[in-house]
Amino acid sequence: MNLKGRSFLKLKDFTPEEITYLIDLSADLKGKKKQGTAHDELRGKNIALIFEKTSTRTRCSFEVAAHDLGMHVTYLDPSGSQIGKKESIRDTARVLGRMFDGIEYRGFGQEIVEELAEYAGVPVWNGLTNEFHPTQMIADMLTVKEKLGHLQGVKFVYMGDARYNMGNSLMVTCAKLGMDFVACTNKEYFPEQELVDYCQDLAKETGASITLTEDVAEGTKDADVIYTDVWVSMGEPDEVWAERIEKLMPYQVNKKVMGYAKDSAIFMHCLPAYHDLETVVGRQVYEKFALAELEVTNDVFEGSQSVVFDEAENRMHSIKAIMYATLK
Ligand code: CP
Ligand code: NVA
Repeated sequence: MNLKGRSFLKLKDFTPEEITYLIDLSADLKGKKKQGTAHDELRGKNIALIFEKTSTRTRCSFEVAAHDLGMHVTYLDPSGSQIGKKESIRDTARVLGRMFDGIEYRGFGQEIVEELAEYAGVPVWNGLTNEFHPTQMIADMLTVKEKLGHLQGVKFVYMGDARYNMGNSLMVTCAKLGMDFVACTNKEYFPEQELVDYCQDLAKETGASITLTEDVAEGTKDADVIYTDVWVSMGEPDEVWAERIEKLMPYQVNKKVMGYAKDSAIFMHCLPAYHDLETVVGRQVYEKFALAELEVTNDVFEGSQSVVFDEAENRMHSIKAIMYATLK
């Protein structure tokens, strides 16, 4: 498998074999890290991290992974560079491409990261856009494989806002890998029809299935994985909270929902999550709507079926694999 020089912008660009290779490489590099085996094979390389939105996991994963691989990192925060304000993406790409061996970009529209990749001349990795969150996918599938032992045929249920980066990416990934994807949510939050059609076509080749349903009991019945994400994503205005709560509260992941799933089911969330009052936003929402738990209840989040911190750890191993595969 040779992915050298490729950008990692969305899962649509990769074959099932390439995705599987990246999942397996992540497991291999995780093993090396755990055993204390040095893997600084990218010594002397330099990467840039551009974050136009905030991050804990993605930024730290890129930094730690880069250091483990022997690389140097430059971090550009949302306000500290000329990007977008005084210099176009196209010009920025051509400048950074002369200095760095690879560039990570987290921001708004997918077209921005695509343009960056077109002009940079070096691999560009999408660290989240409004439409897709591809590095999260490799970590998530590694986690499912570790916990359930396989991917093909897994019933993977996504609840909540399924028409944004996480819902879109998970649907595509499940379609690529022959899994049974269910978007279980209010129909206003189903993924766009064009992407659903793309995934349904793909499913015919891979043995996957794509189901969209508003019925919680039916949608989550015998699920292997129950997944959710925040109802209001980065960059969206606070005003949308009222509508999201009204439309998505029936799709909160709670004990009842976990009860419909298999006993062996796991709970996943890309994080950060609103499951208690320990955050500023969580408290603001509580003051306005008197709800202490949003997309997931605290008992599920903290419960024995929750694998969210293994999933978070796997971000680092999988981002390492993506950089290694595209740079080595
Ligand atoms: N899951 C995820 O991307 O987390 P961060 O926003 O903290 O990077
Ligand atoms: N949908 C979330 C994902 C965060 C990792 C957001 O875009 O804010």
